[in-house]
Amino acid sequence: MTISPTDQKWSAKSYVENAGFVSDLSEDVVRLLAPQPGEKILDLGCGDGRLTEQLIDVGCDVVAIDASADMVASCKDKHIDAYVADGQNFELNQKFDATFSNAALHWMPDYDGVIKSVSNHLNQGGRFVAEFGGFANIAAIVTALSAAANKFDGDAALACPWFFPTEEFYALALEKHGFEVVTMERVSRITPLPTGIKGWLSVFRPSFFEQFDQEIQQDVLDYVVQLLEPSLQDEQGNWWADYARLRFYAKKS
Ligand code: BEZ
Repeated sequence: MTISPTDQKWSAKSYVENAGFVSDLSEDVVRLLAPQPGEKILDLGCGDGRLTEQLIDVGCDVVAIDASADMVASCKDKHIDAYVADGQNFELNQKFDATFSNAALHWMPDYDGVIKSVSNHLNQGGRFVAEFGGFANIAAIVTALSAAANKFDGDAALACPWFFPTEEFYALALEKHGFEVVTMERVSRITPLPTGIKGWLSVFRPSFFEQFDQEIQQDVLDYVVQLLEPSLQDEQGNWWADYARLRFYAKKS
């Protein structure tokens, strides 16, 4: 079986159970967006739609897109105007005052495609406001997965399918596409994992473990957990993730 590094399966239900904190921790980026009633906003990589609902509650006219049909179905259940689309190359035939994105851009390694598509859909002076994983995000987790791939003869590329750029790199990419970067920061945010590291891995990296024969998958998981215990488990047994967020506000000039 061949598994592509970015081959990610999503279940809206499992996401809510194991990673509901992703929307809970979005206050800063929503504040940076400062959505106003009546604004037309594109939510790029909307996930289960919890944040999209917040923007709608403010009085914004929101369109949401996500690559996962399961996530889009969950949005539609919430009466959100949502579509399955690839954030790296989309065409919606409408323009927006702002594009918003939380915890999604690190799944889109074609950053040029993302920025170009966003620019094509913004009105002049429109803003692109987002938060996602920046350089050194979840470094301990990626290192443990890579070590497990080496030990069990797996594919180390499956340990890190994500794009975690530095602030300098992403700012240049935005400027290249005609954006003025108003703010760009990278913030370390050690984050509690309500269902532990196993819950996190089951949502975000199932395909890493599925590359191994079924009989050894538990051994691989146990090895990863053992490697991570000293750095990500506290003295009370709680698990944390070593997140580093890139957060920016850019204007189409
Ligand atoms: C993040 O939000 O930074 C993230 C989540 C899942 C996998 C990788 C990164």
